[in-house]
Amino acid sequence: MLKLKDETLLKSDAFVNGEWLASSKRFPVKNPATGEVLAQVADLGASETERAVAAAADAFPAWKKKTAKERAAILRKWFELMMANQEDLARIMTAEQGKPLAETRGEVAYGASFIEWFAEEAKRVYGDVIPTNQAGRRLIVLKEPVGVVAAITPWNFPNAMIARKVAPAIAAGCPIVVKPAEETPLSALAMAELGARAGLPKGVLNIVTTSDAPGVGKVLTESQLVRKFSFTGSTEVGKLLMQQCATTVKKVSLELGGNAPFIVFDDADLDAAADGAMLSKFRNMGQTCVCANRILVQDDVFDAFAAKLSERVAKLKVGNGFDDGVTQGPLITMDAVEKVERLLKDATAHGAKIATGGKRHALGGTFFEPTVVTEVTPSMTIAQEEIFGPVATLFRFKADDEAIRIANDTRFGLAAYFYARDVGRVMRVAEALEYGIVGINEGIISTEVAPFGGMKESGIGREGSKYGIEDYLEIKYLALGGLQI
Ligand code: SIN
Repeated sequence: MLKLKDETLLKSDAFVNGEWLASSKRFPVKNPATGEVLAQVADLGASETERAVAAAADAFPAWKKKTAKERAAILRKWFELMMANQEDLARIMTAEQGKPLAETRGEVAYGASFIEWFAEEAKRVYGDVIPTNQAGRRLIVLKEPVGVVAAITPWNFPNAMIARKVAPAIAAGCPIVVKPAEETPLSALAMAELGARAGLPKGVLNIVTTSDAPGVGKVLTESQLVRKFSFTGSTEVGKLLMQQCATTVKKVSLELGGNAPFIVFDDADLDAAADGAMLSKFRNMGQTCVCANRILVQDDVFDAFAAKLSERVAKLKVGNGFDDGVTQGPLITMDAVEKVERLLKDATAHGAKIATGGKRHALGGTFFEPTVVTEVTPSMTIAQEEIFGPVATLFRFKADDEAIRIANDTRFGLAAYFYARDVGRVMRVAEALEYGIVGINEGIISTEVAPFGGMKESGIGREGSKYGIEDYLEIKYLALGGLQI
């Protein structure tokens, strides 16, 4: 049984138009560490989703008319409530997603930081006055909320990926309908409860829980009432949703898959590089879009780096995220385990060597041993697909240009990392990498104050930072003529 200080945060109905919406259809939400059913959640369909969109559309005129300061005050209160309930939100997330409590506490703070940030940014949506091209005329640029927003969010960050979309939308003056992942709706519902307590008016935030992602996704992407769509998830699904959005020419933001290179050059501080690789690779059991997917190590430091990494990986503790000292929880589903196994089988069949780990964990279920594989080459499937599991793959390279070529040889372009000390090399490599985010001597790059997003097939748009609110705004140009000045 999940124990919370405030039991009323554990909701199982959807949240539409400021009310909890039950349904006779329900779907189970399970703890991936134990298989225990945590809740039977309302399973909404197309007609309830249309209701949620209509509620958001009804809420739009009044919400957009509020002053930025009024919207900011509600967001600020929501941030404070999230932090006051950090422990309960973390416990709900560990139960439904599996990541250890230390990580879920961190994620709640990370999610809340977007709400705090955009509460502040709400007040800084400036327009422009353009020097006129004609006497008696003034040229003015306004920034206006785009309208109703719809968002589909993933299971790997059940809180932060919602906050990163909802906070800028609401700050800009846009009501929003969110479809959280089927595996992790409880975090979303708890956030909605706190949002309501903070004073969000009815219809401004709606949470549509469902086991029918394609059906609900179709309504959200094709509705005439929705003017902006935001998605975090796989590139394949993102492409499909983008096509569906084309029917109504919506604004689209996509935060899609990655295949992050993590390059260790021969002048790197190897201990710092090994620490950074641990953070980048094993955060959330390797289930992040920005995880190091290909660790490229220069030949002359390869063995030393591999030893340092394996030593650190061997110290990771696998188990139930509620247990003390656990650093690695279960993978989200058996499909995830099977994918990791398939990639490892292909890699070892083509000459890769398992240095540590490499199989399902003795705990059973979806637990997997943290793994290091060496002698991986770019032609192996594991080098081309997003692993999304606790497997560090080590490649050898000789020259800088070779590392850059391998790093860029992918259709993805979300995050890249490298460790080096020579300043000329640092700037050359940073500029050559075709990625939206580059961590230099840093394994963790995520923060609310910096722009998060990818190039190529990793997505469109940026989240967080001063840029993150722009995707929720329309630019309107006023040509004001006939002035007798
Ligand atoms: C993701 O994996 O999609 C997000 C990771 C982050 O925000 O750090």
